[in-house]
Amino acid sequence: MPVRPLVALLDGRDCTVEMPILKDVATVAFCDAQSTQEIHEKVLSEAVGALMYHTISLSREDLEKFKALRIIIRIGSGYDNIDIKSAAELGIAVCNVPSSSVEETADSTLCHILNLYRRVTWLHQAMREGNRAASVEQIREVAGGAARIRGETLGIIGLGRVGQAVALRAKAFGFTVIFYDPYLPDGVERSLGLQRMATLQDLLMHSDCITLHCSLNEHNHHLINDFTIKQMRQGCFLVNTARGGLVDEKALAQALKDGRIRGAALDVHESEPFSFSQGPLKDAPNLICTPHTAWYSEHASIESREEAAKEIRRAITGPIPDALRNCVNKEYLLAAAQWPGIESVHPELNGAAGYRFPPGVVGVAAPGHPASVESLVATSHPLIPSVSHTPSPGQTSKPEPDREIPTDQ
Ligand SMILES: NC(=O)c1ccc[n+]([C@@H]2O[C@H](COP(=O)([O-])OP(=O)(O)OC[C@H]3O[C@@H](n4cnc5c(N)ncnc54)[C@H](O)[C@@H]3O)[C@@H](O)[C@H]2O)c1
Repeated sequence: MPVRPLVALLDGRDCTVEMPILKDVATVAFCDAQSTQEIHEKVLSEAVGALMYHTISLSREDLEKFKALRIIIRIGSGYDNIDIKSAAELGIAVCNVPSSSVEETADSTLCHILNLYRRVTWLHQAMREGNRAASVEQIREVAGGAARIRGETLGIIGLGRVGQAVALRAKAFGFTVIFYDPYLPDGVERSLGLQRMATLQDLLMHSDCITLHCSLNEHNHHLINDFTIKQMRQGCFLVNTARGGLVDEKALAQALKDGRIRGAALDVHESEPFSFSQGPLKDAPNLICTPHTAWYSEHASIESREEAAKEIRRAITGPIPDALRNCVNKEYLLAAAQWPGIESVHPELNGAAGYRFPPGVVGVAAPGHPASVESLVATSHPLIPSVSHTPSPGQTSKPEPDREIPTDQ
């Protein structure tokens, strides 16, 4: 019997938010995998949709293992862990949830910036270690390095959603805010009342505190390195809540040891999960780290998962990529569709469930067919219990045997 399209959460276990949104159009399973080796064969051969966080990566080689995949949703805004161009060439649309966690990430960034200036974490640590700081002299000693914010210059690299939210907040604290983002059109500096720097070097030279908010791409790996650190003001602060790959951690460690960088706060790292006990930063002084949690609040998490599930639903019930709200490889997808050998993504081809797969790729059944109760597909461990579903009571949608492409429900 034909089954509903299979949608799999690749690197997590909890599908309770996604399930109610998808249950009448898809079977939902989870994998809890760290790599594609841990994804069950059934997902690799049958999943039409994949939901994923940032804790798994999909290279071209990984993507080629999926035989029926049509849509990937990154539950979050960054999608540097997916080869979106290769995905498009394989006929897979990739979407993100761009609105997710903008406020949380900006707030967390401000926490890090304030912490570097006001030294809250280090003062807390000193108290824990028994420092009582009774006299003014002792206060001077324990709080040494605490600095005034008003009049300082904050340099933002990457003025997208989070960068702009950081700029608005930083102004309220008295920072002069400058930014560098070569991809934005002229005028954004006027709408936000910021100073635009023409080059990265200008930004580095004029900032007392630098905060990274650019997406990680093939052009900016190790944007902060030995050479760019030398262009910074002596003793400036560095904050990174964007992506670990933007900073050469070896160069940062050396700059912290030399005092060239006065303090750094990192939410993201070159290798995650981060550990203080290994890697180039293990002996670096004046460093505050958090474990890639800048985005997290319960609200943000639920919202992103809802938005991700809705996008999967649009993919199943509408044409790809036109029905998608946040497709990040649409251009590549449309270009790839014109190549010989790959069927075009045409409006009449409605949704992932009805996708006309390129030769050699397996198709899946239309929505509206009774759902099979799928075993939950897990990893290298034996199969774990299912989070799949049965059709909603009273659901009567009929299969349309004469139509290859099902229409919207
Ligand atoms: N730590 C977390 O939990 C967390 C949460 C959300 C977002 N992020 C990361 O934060 C970053 C910003 O997210 P966003 O939603 O604001 O993204 P966005 O796409 O809205 O903004 C990114 C901006 O960076 C600019 N940019 C790209 N390359 C650049 C370069 N070399 N120099 C200067 N600017 C450059 C782009 O033009 C764009 O304006 C991303 O890397 C994202 O992955 C992290």
